[in-house]
Amino acid sequence: MSKPLSRLLRREQRAFLARDRAGWAPHLARASAFLGQGLQAADPARPVLVLGAGSGLEVPWDLAPASTVGWDADPWSRGRTFLRHRRWAPWVFEDATGAMADLEATAHRAVREPWSKRRRDPATAARRLAGLLPSLRPHPAALAAWIAAHRPGTILAANLMGQFGVLAESAVEATFAPDSPWLGDPERPDLLAEALEAWTARTVTAFLAVLAASGAELWLVHDRAVVFSSGRLVLGPWADPWTDQLRGGEAPVEARDALAGVDVRGLLSRQGLALIHVERWLWELAPGQRHLVEAIRARPA
Ligand SMILES: C[S@@+](CC[C@H](N)C(=O)[O-])C[C@H]1O[C@@H](n2cnc3c(N)ncnc32)[C@H](O)[C@@H]1O
Repeated sequence: MSKPLSRLLRREQRAFLARDRAGWAPHLARASAFLGQGLQAADPARPVLVLGAGSGLEVPWDLAPASTVGWDADPWSRGRTFLRHRRWAPWVFEDATGAMADLEATAHRAVREPWSKRRRDPATAARRLAGLLPSLRPHPAALAAWIAAHRPGTILAANLMGQFGVLAESAVEATFAPDSPWLGDPERPDLLAEALEAWTARTVTAFLAVLAASGAELWLVHDRAVVFSSGRLVLGPWADPWTDQLRGGEAPVEARDALAGVDVRGLLSRQGLALIHVERWLWELAPGQRHLVEAIRARPA
């Protein structure tokens, strides 16, 4: 497993758990009710896989069949789950995307000349990385191999997909540090940011394609969008594109797409899965930061 990813996740999770969680109760209740239904509906004779198991904040492990396996690349996740739930579950610590090691190696190649190891100036390195990223083909090899070997009947994805893009940005920033990889000029298109967004879309798509082909029933919870504002925000009816579901005051709602434009419901349907249940809610993660969370239950049609 990539060392930088495990370090990055450990840091991100520590920061995540250190946040003020006073306003999280409605989100945690809905996420854990949804994932708990998945655990209760699972066939206990077959393995159950919990991706993005984390510290078990959203996962009611007391409802998990004995055959349940946690998957999280944060090296502290299993221990934290034990402390929270007194459950020492079998665990996989691999990168669920299979894409981070390649991304990190490519960022290093862009930042330093391979022959002299000298650092390129940040603008040249950013242009170079933007040029290299389209050739990367993310494939969650470890996840696909685990599924082929264990044939899980149920897979829960507990709020990890929305992190793929954020982690990719952090990995690139860590490679460029102390310089910034971003242009910082709103007047000009940032080629690296665009290339990384496209990489994130390919990564989310490849991850979902492996889940969709697994033959398992899927219970997916993920951030659909992040809204940075504290103005009025309500959920309108389900609509495509999803941005039409968010209603604010006078001004249009500015939302960051956590999944780089991937339409999860459309993708699962196209892969032949039946959507059994979908729900959404708003999660106030911090003052001025609200997430539109989507929960989807799907199974092979
Ligand atoms: C927002 S947290 C979800 C919290 C978790 N469901 C819980 O109940 O505590 C996302 C989790 O996904 C994990 N994660 C993110 N990207 C990952 C990856 N590429 N491979 C494996 N785990 C990943 C993180 O380490 C983190 O624990």
